[in-house]
Amino acid sequence: MNSYKIAAIPGDGIGKEVIAAGVEVLQALAARDGGFTLDFETFDWGSDYYKEHGIMMPENGRDTLKRFDAIYFGAVGAPDVPDHVTLWGLRLAICQPFDQYANVRPTRILPGIEGPLRNVGAQDLDWVIVRENSEGEYAGQGGRSHRGLPEEVATEVSIFTRAGVTRIMRYAFKLAQSRPRKLLTVVTKSNAQRHGMVMWDEIAAEVAVEFPDVTWDKMLVDAMTMRMTLKPQSLDTIVATNLHADILSDLAAALAGSLGIAPTANLNPDGKFPSMFEPIHGSAFDITGKGIANPIGTFWTATMMLEHLGEKAAADRLMKAIERVTANPSLHTPDLGGSATTRQVTDAVITAIQGDNA
Ligand code: IPM
Ligand code: MG
Repeated sequence: MNSYKIAAIPGDGIGKEVIAAGVEVLQALAARDGGFTLDFETFDWGSDYYKEHGIMMPENGRDTLKRFDAIYFGAVGAPDVPDHVTLWGLRLAICQPFDQYANVRPTRILPGIEGPLRNVGAQDLDWVIVRENSEGEYAGQGGRSHRGLPEEVATEVSIFTRAGVTRIMRYAFKLAQSRPRKLLTVVTKSNAQRHGMVMWDEIAAEVAVEFPDVTWDKMLVDAMTMRMTLKPQSLDTIVATNLHADILSDLAAALAGSLGIAPTANLNPDGKFPSMFEPIHGSAFDITGKGIANPIGTFWTATMMLEHLGEKAAADRLMKAIERVTANPSLHTPDLGGSATTRQVTDAVITAIQGDNA
C-alpha cells in the first residue's frame, strides 16, 4: 500500500478553514479507495507565527519540508503584516528554493456554476494556465536608494534566463500535447519589452519544433485579456510569465465563476523537491471565521496533488464528487451567490465520495 507524507500549512485567514476541510475530504477519499494512506503533519507557520517569532517559518523549515511527498498549502497574508513580508517569508520562500518552476492553474466552468459571460458555458471555457514560477518579475532583484528623498529610486528587475524559459516552455508544450486539442497560446509583451519578452518568443519557436503535433500561437498580454473574454473557446493551454500569468489567472477564475474554486499546483517536475498545492484565493480576512469560505478550490487542488502522487483514480473520484456537489446550487457558498457553509459543502463532498460506486 502506498503511503504519502503530506505537510499541511494552513497559513492565514480562511487558509486554516479550507485546509482543515481538505484534509477531512482527503482522508475520506483514502479510506474509500483503500489503496493508499495519507499521513498529514500540520505546521502553524504564517502571520501568527511571525508575530510571535519575527519570522514566517523556522530557519530549518525547508529542511523539515524536504522529507514530505507534497505540501498542502492554504493562504498567506494578514491585514497587520506587510504583504511582501508574508509572501517572501513563506510562500516564495518555499516555491523558489524548491524550484517549483511550473505553476499550473486549470480553469473550467464546473457544473451548476454560472460564469459572468453571456452565452459561455462549460464547453466554451476549459483552460490550463502554465505560469513561470521561478524567475521573471518575481525574481526579487532590485533595490531602493535615497529613501524618502525627492531623488529616491527603486528598481524592480525582471530576470529571464534561457534555461528558465526553455524549461517552462517545454513543460507547457508537453501539457498542451497531452490535452485533446493540442493547442498552446504563448503570452508575452514583446512589442514593448524588447529584451526578455523577445527571447520568450524566440525560445517558444525553438521548443515548438520538438512538438510538431501541437498548434501554437502568440498573444500580447493586453490583447489576451480581450481574447479570454470575447473568444474563450479559442484557447486551451496558455503559458505566460510569472506576473502576466498571475494576472490572467485571476481573470480566468472570475470568468469561470469564482476565485473560490480555482486550484493551483506549484510543481517541481523533476521531483527533486516536494511540490506544493494551494487554492488560488488568498486569506480573505473579510470572511475569516464565518465558516463560509468556499472549500472547492482547496478540494480541486487536492485532485492535482493526488495526480502528482500517482493516485489518478482517487483524483478522478474526488473531481466527480466535487462536480456532483457544485451541480447543486443549494450547496453554493456566498462567493457563488449561495448561502451554504464550508461545513455543508465539505460534508456533501464526503457523502458523494462515499456513495460513489465507481
Ligand atoms: C497568486 C497570488 C500570489 C501571487 C500573491 C498572494 C502574492 O496572487 O498565487 O496568484 O501573486 O503569486
Ligand atoms: Mg494571483
